Amino acid sequence: MLRCKMLLWQLALRLSYHVVPASLCLGGSDIFVSIRENSPMGQFISNLSIRGEPRDNTIRLCLTGDSADWFYLEGRTIRLNASASRVLDREVLGSVLIAELTCFQDDVIQSRFRIVVEILNENDNRPNFLQETIQPFSISELTAVNSVVFSVKAVDADGDMISYIIDQSSRDADFFRIDLPNSGNLVLNKPLDYESRTELQLILWAQEANTVEKFNTSAVLIVNIEDRDDLYPHFLPCTPVSPGLPVCMNPTYTTNITQRHQDAVLEFSPGPIRAEDGDRGINTPLIYSILSGADQGRFEINNRTGEIRITRAVNDRRRETNFTLSIMVCQEDDRLKYSVALVLVRVLAPNAFPPVFNSSTFKGFIVQSSSPASIVSTYGNQVLLIQATDTDFSNGRNPNIHYSIQPSSGLYQITQGGVLIARTDQLHAFDRHILQVVARDEESGEEASASVDVEVLQRGQAVPDGAFREQQYFGDVDRRLAGGIAASMLLLFLSAVLCLLLRMLKRRRRQRHEHEHDHEHAAVGKHPNVVRTETPSLS
Ligand SMILES: *[C@@H]1O[C@H](CO)[C@@H](O)[C@H](O)[C@H]1NC(C)=O
Ligand SMILES: *[C@@H]1O[C@H](CO)[C@@H](O)[C@H](O)[C@H]1NC(C)=O
Ligand SMILES: *[C@@H]1O[C@H](CO)[C@@H](O)[C@H](O)[C@H]1NC(C)=O
Ligand SMILES: *[C@@H]1O[C@H](CO)[C@@H](O)[C@H](O)[C@H]1NC(C)=O
Ligand SMILES: *[C@@H]1O[C@H](CO)[C@@H](O)[C@H](O)[C@H]1NC(C)=O
Ligand SMILES: *[C@@H]1O[C@H](CO)[C@@H](O)[C@H](O)[C@H]1NC(C)=O
Ligand SMILES: *[C@@H]1O[C@H](CO)[C@@H](O)[C@H](O)[C@H]1NC(C)=O
Repeated sequence: MLRCKMLLWQLALRLSYHVVPASLCLGGSDIFVSIRENSPMGQFISNLSIRGEPRDNTIRLCLTGDSADWFYLEGRTIRLNASASRVLDREVLGSVLIAELTCFQDDVIQSRFRIVVEILNENDNRPNFLQETIQPFSISELTAVNSVVFSVKAVDADGDMISYIIDQSSRDADFFRIDLPNSGNLVLNKPLDYESRTELQLILWAQEANTVEKFNTSAVLIVNIEDRDDLYPHFLPCTPVSPGLPVCMNPTYTTNITQRHQDAVLEFSPGPIRAEDGDRGINTPLIYSILSGADQGRFEINNRTGEIRITRAVNDRRRETNFTLSIMVCQEDDRLKYSVALVLVRVLAPNAFPPVFNSSTFKGFIVQSSSPASIVSTYGNQVLLIQATDTDFSNGRNPNIHYSIQPSSGLYQITQGGVLIARTDQLHAFDRHILQVVARDEESGEEASASVDVEVLQRGQAVPDGAFREQQYFGDVDRRLAGGIAASMLLLFLSAVLCLLLRMLKRRRRQRHEHEHDHEHAAVGKHPNVVRTETPSLS
């Protein structure tokens, strides 16, 4: 009995020996918990369910493992060891912290527990564009609309889903669109044109699609447009067909030459003759040529510079009034890309001489009648021709001379042939009109003028025939003066007759010599009276 009791006690003792010391470290279990990312210092993680209390100094707990320093113990409570400068960042640490907790009793390892802490993600990161995807890039101006031209990519450390947005307020937003919100593929929305825009700029946003915060980020994207050979050359200066449209109306180049021009480079207005490739970024070499109007080599074009040279002078100015040339410029590498312009070469008289009238005064007569218009005639009833001659022309007739009466008169008109027409029915007999006729060379602007003295004769009155005598002796001298001179001559004749009579008397009465002188004086003194009597009939 006693033996049995002893045995039981011993067993109990042994049991207690084994159970009691072990019980302090036992009772715990592995810990699997989750905590939020960015949890603060001291954040409760778990209570360890071992029996003993580490404060008793009989047991000791020890944390080991990679993430051990993220934990600390407060009795049997495991807490987070973090600080302001050392935050629990899932993006840095990964999604789990793993450590081991060893329980020593009397420096003997009694038990070991695993601590596995999952870090719950918090949206603490913004998306970021991958720099290599937002570098300036170049695309051809011929890129097809609706094709994907570029892909951008942004990442979010929290692993959030990202959608891409083109900022519609950015300058060139309308050139592109994003095909699918999450793709980051930029699709060309409308045609590009290097000639109007060489660079585009747009702002892109990358935004979290699946978070509450919808964090975003932006990037400026620069798109360089590469010139391609899509345009024809055009002559300069370019007058756009309509504003903003890169299509030019080619100018008409004009120049004036005279017979003196020979083997000379012509200067044009607008000038010089020059073309440029519509593709300014490419600027291919151009070739000039004359399509038509070269007049058997009279005009030559420099196929590189567009300079036009006249090789043969113009001889017959009347026949070769103008030359019209058609010139072409084309790309050297693609002759089908060309442009055509007109060149007008006007041949002008050298204008060494101005037009002149052969007289400063013309004499005209018109007989009053009821006819509304009659041609003014001159002495001998000849048609009065008031014509200027121009020595620049071999026959003296410059077809560019324009005749006019200045100031213009309602009674007279002059034809371009130099014939004076009068409104006969509005004239009065004995009227006298002094008209100013101007001949103007419309090409050079040079002018000559002459006056026309028109006398209106009574119905039935004959046009003086004395043209021959008067013009022969007095030329263009005013008729009034001519009349005066005629009268003086008559007087001289009379004086001479008187002299003869006096000499005859003298022979008879030699004693009366002094009287001769008195008579001569009287004759000369009569002169002004004679002239004055003629005056009323003229004016
Ligand atoms: C953990 O232990 C502490 C002290 O022993 C106690 O105050 C607390 O309520 C326990 N927490 C849990 C969740 O059991
Ligand atoms: C808490 O972390 C800091 C920094 O790593 C470390 O120096 C310190 O010893 C840790 N505290 C505990 C109780 O492990
Ligand atoms: C980006 O976020 C800011 C605030 O953080 C907001 O004002 C802005 O509208 C967002 N941009 C887009 C394109 O949603
Ligand atoms: C050619 O001459 C005309 C008049 O004769 C003048 O109006 C024009 O300006 C001249 N053109 C040039 C290019 O000299
Ligand atoms: C241009 O002109 C030069 C000299 O007149 C000639 O040698 C050359 O072949 C021409 N080039 C073309 C492309 O017509
Ligand atoms: C020559 O050109 C001018 C204007 O450029 C025009 O007025 C004139 O009528 C032309 N002459 C001929 C004969 O074509
Ligand atoms: C002056 O010119 C006119 C008209 O051309 C002509 O009829 C006349 O004979 C000329 N007179 C002289 C003196 O040359």
